[in-house]
Amino acid sequence: MRESILEFDHQSLTAIRFGAGKLEQLASLLPRDAKVLLLYGGGSIKRNGVYDQLAMALAGWDWLEFGGVPANPEIEVLDQAKALIRAEGRDFILAVGGGSVIDAAKYLAAAAPYPGEGWDLVCGKVQARQALAIGAVLTLAATGSEANGTAVISRASTQDKLTFRSPLLRPCFAILDPEVLASLPERQLANGVADAFVHACEQYLTYPVGALVQDGCAEGVLRALYQLACRFDERASLWWRQNLMWAANQALSVTLGLGVPHDWATHRIGRTLTALHGIDHGRTLTIVQPSLLREALREKGDKLRQMGRLVFEAPGISAEGVIERIEAMYLRLGMPLRLREAVPDAPQDAAMSALALLRRDGPIRLGEDGIFDEARVERIVRACCR
Ligand code: NZQ
Ligand code: ZN
Repeated sequence: MRESILEFDHQSLTAIRFGAGKLEQLASLLPRDAKVLLLYGGGSIKRNGVYDQLAMALAGWDWLEFGGVPANPEIEVLDQAKALIRAEGRDFILAVGGGSVIDAAKYLAAAAPYPGEGWDLVCGKVQARQALAIGAVLTLAATGSEANGTAVISRASTQDKLTFRSPLLRPCFAILDPEVLASLPERQLANGVADAFVHACEQYLTYPVGALVQDGCAEGVLRALYQLACRFDERASLWWRQNLMWAANQALSVTLGLGVPHDWATHRIGRTLTALHGIDHGRTLTIVQPSLLREALREKGDKLRQMGRLVFEAPGISAEGVIERIEAMYLRLGMPLRLREAVPDAPQDAAMSALALLRRDGPIRLGEDGIFDEARVERIVRACCR
């Protein structure tokens, strides 16, 4: 175990309303004088009845809507919503959807009051100084975006997909009704389990620092997600859906990563695969993570074995054995483990293109303490692009 001083600042700001029928509480959460923009995606909320429930709950409010936020939201589309917010004097964004819609709301909340180019905020040239208020109605459990201050925004014209964050962008409330997940296709449920699992791993699978609470929280979330994967055939039950919804929220609710080392290299590399090939976020992670863990067996060995003991309940298992368990879990969910399983006609030079995108922002140094230099990242990318 490495000596490490635990130190962090933490303030949880999002009011959570969790459970069946909680949409009814919307009226008590929305400020009476809010000028609301209802933001949603490609129309799933119109097919599963959520839009109708919202329209009823919003009776008496001054509200407008903007639909059509795409998965992996692109700034080119979002700037149309920005113009609407400005023209109609909206001051509250009600985001109804998964990570893409909630992230889009965060971009809009920061970009609408900012006089310059919105991309300045995304690429980190400027920090958000003010933001409109956001409320979230979650319809897809995966990202944890409903209760954190992070957003991932794409720019199609330059193949960028970048993360930015600010405490100003954390939604002031999030409504989590597991019944809403009933209309999700199997693929999105599997994506959700995998994404949440990797979120917990990014904050746990580094090296031991003796943070008992953070480790215990991460192991609890990982064990829950492993069970959900093992019992994937029960995904239509309320038991399954409500556990996924809370596990995904907790996996990225910040508390399990407070003050401990983080990795996030799987996410960084995965984003390039979405930018280049349009692969769902969760699926990029299952493609990248096993190769990345194998590359770091030396640095991550202690934590992998701890995970084997306390998550997979396999005392004495080797670090490689734990990676095989993770792969078996992803296969049970129907997730790809190689680029070509997700994109059969991926070009031969896919690895080189991913590396070129990663290099574009300067020298590559990823993972906890920058353990993955350019040569190691190249080995990881080549292994997963086979
Ligand atoms: O657009 P609609 O028609 O609503 O359909 C969506 C979309 O096609 C559909 N869907 C959502 N709820 C549904 C539903 N279909 C039926 N019934 C429902 N109840 O699901 C599709 C995917 O939605 P999306 O929001 O894209 O999925 P997800 O929640 O996985 O979000 C992915 C995005 O979040 C980013 C990813 O990079 C990606 O852009 N992430 C955000 C993070 C954050 N803010 O903290 C962290 C994550 O690591 C991740 O990077
Ligand atoms: Zn993720």
